[in-house]
Amino acid sequence: MNRKVSWGIIGMGVMGTNISRNFASQGHTVALYNRFVKGKEENIALKCTQEYSELKNALAFEELDLFVSALKFPRKILLMIPSGLALEKILEELIPMLSQGDVLIDGGNSHYNDTEKRASLLNEKKIHFLGMGVSGGKIGALNGPSLMIGGNLDGYKIVNRDLESIAAKDIYGTRCCSYLGLGGAGHYIKMVHNGIEYAEMQLLAEIFELCMTSPALNFASIHKELSVWKKSFSQSYLLEITSEILTYNDDGIPFINKILDKASSKGTVAWAIANGALLGSPNSLMASALHARFTSSLKSKREKLSKSYKIQKGKYETPLKKLKKVYDVSRLINHHQGFEMIKSANDKFSWEINFATVARLWSEGSIIKSQLMNALVKEFQKNDSIIEMEKFKKEIIDAQEDWISIIKYALDNVVPIPCIYSAWNYFISMTQSTSNGNLIQAQRDFFGAHGFQRIDQKKGTLSHGPWSKKN
Ligand code: 3PG
Repeated sequence: MNRKVSWGIIGMGVMGTNISRNFASQGHTVALYNRFVKGKEENIALKCTQEYSELKNALAFEELDLFVSALKFPRKILLMIPSGLALEKILEELIPMLSQGDVLIDGGNSHYNDTEKRASLLNEKKIHFLGMGVSGGKIGALNGPSLMIGGNLDGYKIVNRDLESIAAKDIYGTRCCSYLGLGGAGHYIKMVHNGIEYAEMQLLAEIFELCMTSPALNFASIHKELSVWKKSFSQSYLLEITSEILTYNDDGIPFINKILDKASSKGTVAWAIANGALLGSPNSLMASALHARFTSSLKSKREKLSKSYKIQKGKYETPLKKLKKVYDVSRLINHHQGFEMIKSANDKFSWEINFATVARLWSEGSIIKSQLMNALVKEFQKNDSIIEMEKFKKEIIDAQEDWISIIKYALDNVVPIPCIYSAWNYFISMTQSTSNGNLIQAQRDFFGAHGFQRIDQKKGTLSHGPWSKKN
């Protein structure tokens, strides 16, 4: 076969197939590769070319060497396969087939540390490696995702225009595709994105549960209420889909009541939380959201315990107006924590990731696109700390009473609200000039002689307490 094409895409799962269709619709010639697994994955790439009209001229392969030889130089290859073992395996086979100057892009959810390692290993071979976070789900992959790119800058310059052509457009018409920094910067930003996403989803789940405790509210009225919210500053893609989900029924029963209440997760947010802990950057909302998924998964234990602990629930009406305000401020805190993590990562990894650029990347195409994100694009040009932005300060100050009453309402009605409560705890902790950290320091010194800084001594001087004489 002599025909050579511009792009090679590996992995014909939902995301890989849709991104291939997107490339082809933008006029790029593509080769598709999917592995051959007898009885399980046979002729997958070929079937894609038959099923989707955009891919009718695409070349289909299940032999990697033939796929690689069908690509023009420098080869541009996009890997759309799950991170971990599957990726390791294909890289082992693929890398020896590549030449200097080729560009290899990992579009999966890899850990940024692995991306760092791969980028420097391939740098030695003069193969350009990019780690690319892709957000937008299957629809975004097809119609325009948000692309967060890190790695070799020369490599990025080779593929930049092609990638821009498949990305979403922000409200000003600029593509949501940007280079963020060396090594794992792109995958790092995708990891934080997923953390923010988890908390956004969990906040909506908490709002839903708070509403469901009210005798006066049902699926239809909650949907109606959220339809009003989505025309306001509360608007987001996740709010819109949540509101829509509530309209589906199955045999006259709300569809979500047919779904087992065990939430899954694939691991990127566990990485994000661990990374926040390593950097000393609080990310309690994403942590609360992940832990809420974990506790939801412990279904049989929950069922057993619910029989031994019968907790009395109150019966109050959900204060919807207050709820909306609390939802809005909790989201501000969630975004604040996410961007603060990026600030710490910039310091730690010597990246210069610009907040306005990240907000712009996430303002369209991405799962966390929202009116708030669009507002942040502008606001970050003036201030890099969300809770200090003039635009939101009044809203946060005004919401305090409502925040307290929603927390009380949740207590009375026995509704777990880990994210709303985390947001509140973070907010009140961060806005008090004194903390109980002095007692923690004393305890550490008492049992471990770790020492502490006295307020009446020079910075950096380590002191011990009077208890040290005793021990
Ligand atoms: C993804 O990046 O695949 C999702 O946004 C997060 O997936 P999860 O909820 O399965 O972890």
